[in-house]
Amino acid sequence: MEQLLNKIEVYKNEINAFSVSDTTTVEEFRIKWLGTKGIVKEIMGEMKNVAPDKKKEAGQLLNEFKQFVEGKYDELKGSADNGQQSTANTIDLSLPGDPLPLGSRHPVVLMRNRIVSIFQRLGFAVAEGPEIEDDWHNFGALNLPEHHPARDMQDTFYVQQNPDWVLRTHTSSVQIREMEKGKLPIRMLMPGRVYRNETVSARSHCFFHQVEGLYIDENVSFADLKQTLYFFVKEMYGKDVKVRFRPSYFPFTEPSAEMDVTCFICGGSGCNICKKTGWVEILGCGMVHPNVLSNCGIDPNKYTGFAFGMGIERPAMLKYGVNDLRLFSENDVRFLKQFTSAI
Ligand code: PHE
Repeated sequence: MEQLLNKIEVYKNEINAFSVSDTTTVEEFRIKWLGTKGIVKEIMGEMKNVAPDKKKEAGQLLNEFKQFVEGKYDELKGSADNGQQSTANTIDLSLPGDPLPLGSRHPVVLMRNRIVSIFQRLGFAVAEGPEIEDDWHNFGALNLPEHHPARDMQDTFYVQQNPDWVLRTHTSSVQIREMEKGKLPIRMLMPGRVYRNETVSARSHCFFHQVEGLYIDENVSFADLKQTLYFFVKEMYGKDVKVRFRPSYFPFTEPSAEMDVTCFICGGSGCNICKKTGWVEILGCGMVHPNVLSNCGIDPNKYTGFAFGMGIERPAMLKYGVNDLRLFSENDVRFLKQFTSAI
């Protein structure tokens, strides 16, 4: 009897430790323990060696053991049917998954989205165009005919294979493409990358990003331009920011202006960022030149419009406290992962 008890104990341990693996299957378990020549059968046979007064107790024990083995077999079969046991590395579906590394938005994109979302609320739609442009869209149509001195305002990259192609120096080329479509009125925003042949340093780069805006309709006036930009500035830099327009020159607008806001670092009292002037220039603007409208097949006697253009990097540098323009294009993850704003 003692012996029988010990045996059952040993078997139970073995069964508890059993798991399905590459080399043992549920069927093998069944054959070993419950088969016609299996261990359960064999141990049942030991009844005959048990003293008569212990037979009842032994019978109970053996029955319990048999049920125990059958229970284990059912359990193994159940998990096999659920498809969870086919390999040694049973997958625990309740474990949390490995987190995927999540990127963050680029600060230039964050700033672009902010600018775009403000104008979208005024009904501006977004348009994009090619970065390799022909001379007409980048210069000619914008009232900059060949040999016009103002072409030197922007140092241009030309494409070797085709003397008519340039890397666009501003997104004004997209304004031309929109006007050429002939669908009026136009209320468009053109964000994009532009290229200029400038030495790469902390403050200038051979490519950067702009957002330009264009509004063409009947009776659009300079007052509309000012009101639109006032709204933008208040949304972007806060209600207390002051604005000033300075007369300027762009071949594609007449009159032209540059717009300054009170320095958002020092509030106008003068600091290094605003070079002690209290003002920071943020954009160029003006009324679309009648020649530009005619170049695009729009009647300048019927339609007028305004345009504006601003860089994205500079406001992004000021907002996020970035002091070197090159950081934006070096793709250093340690730099990029610091910007986690929602837009
Ligand atoms: N295209 C000009 C630039 O790149 C900006 C601008 C756009 C100015 C529209 C006036 C009107 O500097």
